[in-house]
Amino acid sequence: MRVAMEMAMAVAMAVVVALGMVATPAEAGDNNRVFQPCADTKIQRGDGFTFGIAFSTRDSFFFNQTQLSPCDSRLALASNANAQLALFRPKVDEISLLTVNTTVYPAVTNGGFMVAFAGRKYAARSLPAFVGNSSYIVTSFTLVLEFQKGRLQNLYWKRDGCASCSGKSNFVCLNKLECAIKTSSCKNANQGGSVDCSIGIQLAFSGTDEHDAVLNSWYEVSNLQQYSLYGLYSNLRDSLTSQYNKIF
Ligand SMILES: *[C@@H]1O[C@H](CO)[C@@H](O)[C@H](O)[C@H]1NC(C)=O
Ligand SMILES: *[C@@H]1O[C@H](CO)[C@@H](O)[C@H](O)[C@H]1NC(C)=O
Ligand SMILES: *[C@@H]1O[C@H](CO)[C@@H](O)[C@H](O)[C@H]1NC(C)=O
Repeated sequence: MRVAMEMAMAVAMAVVVALGMVATPAEAGDNNRVFQPCADTKIQRGDGFTFGIAFSTRDSFFFNQTQLSPCDSRLALASNANAQLALFRPKVDEISLLTVNTTVYPAVTNGGFMVAFAGRKYAARSLPAFVGNSSYIVTSFTLVLEFQKGRLQNLYWKRDGCASCSGKSNFVCLNKLECAIKTSSCKNANQGGSVDCSIGIQLAFSGTDEHDAVLNSWYEVSNLQQYSLYGLYSNLRDSLTSQYNKIF
């Protein structure tokens, strides 16, 4: 596919960490040749899948009161100074933790919201999720990528209310929906805080691939929900987890 990407926002570097607990069959290689998010593709288990997350103001994701894909040039995100883009290419059906380091990329919180997206003719986009403003930052998200016969159908944020942060002094519960850290606690904001307020996004896949094989990393995430995947990533544990009090 050679559809030119209509976005020229700064590409935020992002770390994709694959979790070793999902056994990968030896024959599972990446046969998906589509490497940019604003193009259509069909996936099978073991493929890489490229999608984007655009960070901007809530209003900037809407055109004439309709939420459009960030790939749609009518949103003019490319010329929006507050808009930032992060690209990711996780392996389909592997539980992954994506991080965006807000020390290195502080501008991702400028607009306050983020939208995950992929595809063009079959464009899918999540609802805008609140990331942060000058008072609060939300650091933990779960994004579900839902496929039907290998085609992305839906992207949505899975919330657990505020169960994961109840009783933790660094956190406040916003709108009974999500756990947020006071920006003043963040060392990123140069406000003398001690918490690394990088954004972590747990991924889960659901639905079916192009051979009708069931994607079941979602099942594993829902079983794991009582913990946090952060604790399972030993190399991120120190920077992202231990500060969140003990989960295990
Ligand atoms: C905006 O939406 C209204 C109602 O759906 C429609 O009549 C109008 O033509 C749209 N305007 C643009 C610029 O697309
Ligand atoms: C973010 O970047 C800073 C500066 O390079 C580093 O000290 C910190 O450990 C990083 N945080 C994460 C979660 O990778
Ligand atoms: C930041 O967001 C929170 C939660 O949506 C809201 O209650 C608060 O008023 C906002 N603060 C500013 C300065 O926009």
